[in-house]
Amino acid sequence: MLRAVARVDLAAVERNCAELARVAAPAALCAVVKADGYGHGAVPAARAAQAGGASWLAVATADEAARLRAAGIEGPLLMMGALTAAELTVALRARADVVVWREASVAALAAHPDADGAGVHVKLDTGMGRLGTRDAREAAHTADAVAAVPRLRLAGLMTHFATADDDPGFAREQLARFLPLADALRARHGGDLLLHAANSAATLGIPESRLGMVRCGIAIYGMDPFGADPAAHGLAPALELRSHLAEVKPIAPGESVGYGRRFVADAPTWIGTVPVGYGDGVRRALSNDCDVLVGGRRVPVVGTISMDNLTVDLGAEPPERGADVVLIGAQGGERVPAEEWARRLGTINYEITCGIAPRVPRQYASP
Ligand SMILES: Cc1ncc(COP(=O)(O)O)c(C=O)c1O
Repeated sequence: MLRAVARVDLAAVERNCAELARVAAPAALCAVVKADGYGHGAVPAARAAQAGGASWLAVATADEAARLRAAGIEGPLLMMGALTAAELTVALRARADVVVWREASVAALAAHPDADGAGVHVKLDTGMGRLGTRDAREAAHTADAVAAVPRLRLAGLMTHFATADDDPGFAREQLARFLPLADALRARHGGDLLLHAANSAATLGIPESRLGMVRCGIAIYGMDPFGADPAAHGLAPALELRSHLAEVKPIAPGESVGYGRRFVADAPTWIGTVPVGYGDGVRRALSNDCDVLVGGRRVPVVGTISMDNLTVDLGAEPPERGADVVLIGAQGGERVPAEEWARRLGTINYEITCGIAPRVPRQYASP
């Protein structure tokens, strides 16, 4: 038995992608598998996504692109992040499409020895304030410059929404800034210029933003981009974080558990020790503020979460040592979703699964 494991149901990723592809059609589905597939494992997630109908994949770093190709994953691949000169070489050798927004980057690409046939997407910053140019004329000049280099391929025009999850009105304003440039570039460079803007929240909530392709990350893993219930969108979570009861012991009133004695029993009870802690991604801020599932019921985490262990109050009738513990996922009729941790921690579900540490082995149930 492993001390802790992240079980990833690849059939769930496949089904989530099939659902998103159905919703987005005729727009293509690009599955975002950056940050090791939001903690699920980029290579298996990418394969499951393709099986579910994702015709594109996207990553944020050149190294992520190279790892997918090294694993034998083919098909269109978009490298969405900013690139240093060294990373550009890695991305091009991985046959990833790259993103630019300045003419100077086009010149660097045009002169690059590995750039033959490279697909290039131009990014307009319509309100995210991160990558891309805010100046539609600069974006247009950049696109024209790409199109003027015979060995490059002007492949797409993109933007990214800042508030598709909680302020669709602002996302619609961003879309309204994007569309005039999209129309102008399509008129100049042809109708197959791929237009893409929507993330998961926009794909589900703003139909007119789907354009030629949607870039979905969080939703392909069955988590809710709105931080609520993924089932409301026909999505099922793919990841479960599981461990076991390594120790079960009685505790008397006045006795404490854990660093700082932040839990002192006020009645006789049984304490279970689960060998997983903040070194595995179970954040210390969940100390005394989180439930796990044991024997099909919720039991509270008590005391300070340490690097390698946490403790739970099992009550008067404890399960046996060795019993399965579910930290994220379902057991019996109970469920602790990643969204619950996110709410308790004041963060988003994305950070929960990305934060499951590399020392937790990923185990895959295949489609
Ligand atoms: C440029 C870009 N597009 C798409 C996505 C996917 O977003 P989501 O996971 O919300 O679907 C991301 C992720 O942050 C992104 O940075």
